[in-house]
Amino acid sequence: MRTSQPQTIYLNEYKVPAYLVDHVDLRFELFENGARVHSTMTVRRNPECVQSKAPLELDGDSLKLESVSLDGLPLDAEAYDDQGDKLVVPNVPAQFELNVVTWIEPQNNTRLEGLYKSSGMFCTQCEAEGFRSITYYPDRPDVMAMFRTRIEADKAAYPILLSNGNPVEQGELAGDRHFVTWEDPFPKPAYLFALVAGDLVEKKDTFTTCSGRAIDLRMYVEPRNAEKCDFAMDSLKRAMRWDEEVYGREYDLDIFMIVAVDDFNMGAMENKGLNIFNSSCVLASQNTATDASFQRIEAIVAHEYFHNWSGNRVTCRDWFQLSLKEGFTVFRDAQFSADMGSPTVKRIEDVTLLRTAQFAEDAGPMAHPVRPASYMEISNFYTLTIYEKGAEVVRMINHLLGDDLFRKGSDLYFERHDGQAVTTDDFVRAMEDASGRDLSQFRLWYEQAGTPVVTVADHYDEDRGVYRLDICQSVPDTPGQTGKKPQHIPFALGLLSRAGEPLPLNLSAAEQDGPQERVLELTESEQSFEFHGLSERPVPSLLRNFSAPVRVQYPWSRDQLLFLMSHDPDGFNRWDAGQRLAVDVIQSLIGAPEGAEVEPRLVGAYRNLLSDVSLDQALVAKMLLLPSEAYLVELSEQADVPAIYAARQKVLTHLAESLRDDLVGCYQRSRAEGEYQLTPQAIALRSLRNTALAWLLHIKDEQGLAFALEQYRSADNMTDRLGALRALVNSDFADEREQALRAFYEQYSDDPQVVELWFSVQASSYQAGQLPQIQTLLDHPAFDWKNPNKVRSVVGAFAGQNLAAFHKADGSGYQFLADQVCRLDDSNPQIAARLISPLTRWKKFAPHYGQQMKAALECVRGKSELSPDVYEVVLKSLSD
Ligand code: BES
Ligand code: ZN
Repeated sequence: MRTSQPQTIYLNEYKVPAYLVDHVDLRFELFENGARVHSTMTVRRNPECVQSKAPLELDGDSLKLESVSLDGLPLDAEAYDDQGDKLVVPNVPAQFELNVVTWIEPQNNTRLEGLYKSSGMFCTQCEAEGFRSITYYPDRPDVMAMFRTRIEADKAAYPILLSNGNPVEQGELAGDRHFVTWEDPFPKPAYLFALVAGDLVEKKDTFTTCSGRAIDLRMYVEPRNAEKCDFAMDSLKRAMRWDEEVYGREYDLDIFMIVAVDDFNMGAMENKGLNIFNSSCVLASQNTATDASFQRIEAIVAHEYFHNWSGNRVTCRDWFQLSLKEGFTVFRDAQFSADMGSPTVKRIEDVTLLRTAQFAEDAGPMAHPVRPASYMEISNFYTLTIYEKGAEVVRMINHLLGDDLFRKGSDLYFERHDGQAVTTDDFVRAMEDASGRDLSQFRLWYEQAGTPVVTVADHYDEDRGVYRLDICQSVPDTPGQTGKKPQHIPFALGLLSRAGEPLPLNLSAAEQDGPQERVLELTESEQSFEFHGLSERPVPSLLRNFSAPVRVQYPWSRDQLLFLMSHDPDGFNRWDAGQRLAVDVIQSLIGAPEGAEVEPRLVGAYRNLLSDVSLDQALVAKMLLLPSEAYLVELSEQADVPAIYAARQKVLTHLAESLRDDLVGCYQRSRAEGEYQLTPQAIALRSLRNTALAWLLHIKDEQGLAFALEQYRSADNMTDRLGALRALVNSDFADEREQALRAFYEQYSDDPQVVELWFSVQASSYQAGQLPQIQTLLDHPAFDWKNPNKVRSVVGAFAGQNLAAFHKADGSGYQFLADQVCRLDDSNPQIAARLISPLTRWKKFAPHYGQQMKAALECVRGKSELSPDVYEVVLKSLSD
């Protein structure tokens, strides 16, 4: 039991650990009714700690202590203090061996942190603070030890026994049991510890590193998943090669293992040499995984692998530095995905997530800097700000330094800090030292929360041929942070002539052939830039490729946006212009009278996209997607979701009706011929075709229905089958919808990953995911409250993606979510705390909605024995 009240932990109270652990020897005795953990630590006083008489303090959580001995002598109960969440041993010598034996019950662990059971196998999740529910230990990342782990279990039920490092010994034991001992030669923090025991099949491969070492690659999965490993294994090899080529990072152990488990709070975990994955983030086959899942798997396998250097060899000093490993590694996996596919499409996807969800977080009650200054519950801080904004910050450093100096900086960082636990400041300093650049103002990106607003005004002086940009920046107030300083913003831009030609950017009258793109470095609240030698007023293309995570304000006319949509040489900005135009059109229809006109030029622009086959189809596929409701909410004040939804639907209907024949043409043309392939082109065609199909069904087109039924029947891959199902589900063809849903479930009921897709297609659909239907899904035999993926695919999809159904004027959606959060809080607080997030931004919504959201939060606050996880989120949301 957690007994103490949640407390706030502050970065500026960081103290070095009083004791260090050099070695830890673990022995796990695994049984059906529990596990006994024997831990022997070699401990010494930390020479850097001034307090030499400090007691030894070990963290613990939900442990049953069986015995403690020091240098081989059992301690009696007076010699230590078992405080439940701490084991305190006063008067310890400067160097000693401490042995602790604990009893835990993995079979009853529903929080899925520490050691737990998932479909009959034992597995662990120790980041951030799960190791303390395995044994008493200084559970902080700046205590790094060498681990030796012996696992003992029943041989028939658990033939496979895994831990970090290399296997060094194995043998038989009495009572049909066996053991395996593993040794990890690299010192690591406890959060990187892992153990797996189960009846798993082994998939083998090898990789030869750049220096010629042969690495054994292994995947361990339940027998029924044996055929779903190839894609992840190939992704792993691509990632290993890429990290050698792009970052000069070679793998360091002789074996690298991946395990798939069904019950997992997150996507995956980078435990040294033994990555553990949520099944849905690693298992795939053409017939069960969509293009999006394949791409996610490739990215996440790479992400966890990349942590071997950015996270494991060089780790975090404390959890305030989380973005040191996560932001950097997300940046690395994004570069990898860009190299494996279409860089523009990858950028569009990342920016969409950033602008929709991270900007919202940064403007809400949970806003915090990339390096937070305080937290209550660390598991609440695995946020979009730490991950996505953190990655943007590293991307900006890359942009400011250029690729070569950035690589020099990362080499220096890895070399200088190998084997250490360090800070984001150490990372920036390595970048500075390698490049000679001063990043002192840039550091504000780590310290100040909130999304900077960059306002651009332009003036054209015809007589002088000078075009001037006046650029202001400001960083908004966030909870606990006001009066912020201007930040160092790399602002990429270009200028276009009326004919659509790129113009030279001459910063003075003397300059003649300036470059066609420049990166302006904004450092002050107000700056002006003059561009010379221009014989006409140019159209500006601002913040190309989204060079900084900021909001740009500029009074674009619809003509300018239409122009940029078809002429900007920057693919990202072409897409962005289309989004801005669509946003403008939708916004102008919110609350407009019934017969209000939909901008005719929008129809023309979309017709071009649909019919001009010379355009990059991958970009077209993205440009056709209208801005999501969530993004429209994010852009509005006092959001009225039903009104936003209605306006967006109106535009969609109008476009689909006006472009009906073009959609049919596009659908028929965009058929990927031949075998299923995962190239950017093939993915784009499937996406394009499924969008055309969805639009046709949106207007209840009979030919569209025929396409959908035939596509469903003949699909040779899950992207097309699910695309057809989704289009039917989101249509008004009620009978066909029911029929297709039934057929789909029957076909895939024994595949949990596909059943999750089936749940989320319904829960995120306005047509199929109204509250009573959500209730039915929760009662479905395949639903399981103990499985986070199932909870996310129903409750998470409803509250996070089905906005118009969730934001019902009677508040029923809010109350429903509050009830589910309370119910989950008792079994899995981390998932409960994540699930509640749609309620936290109640201030963003029109008062009628906001007040009811607030009431739902208050209802959660009133629950007895609220976990610290949910408590922190509710407290901050209500006191904002
Ligand atoms: N280290 C995290 C996993 C983690 C986070 C475990 C929080 C426990 C608590 C891992 O490297 C990670 O970041 N995983 C992401 C996916 C990744 C591709 C961004 C995840 O699990 O969502
Ligand atoms: Zn990570």
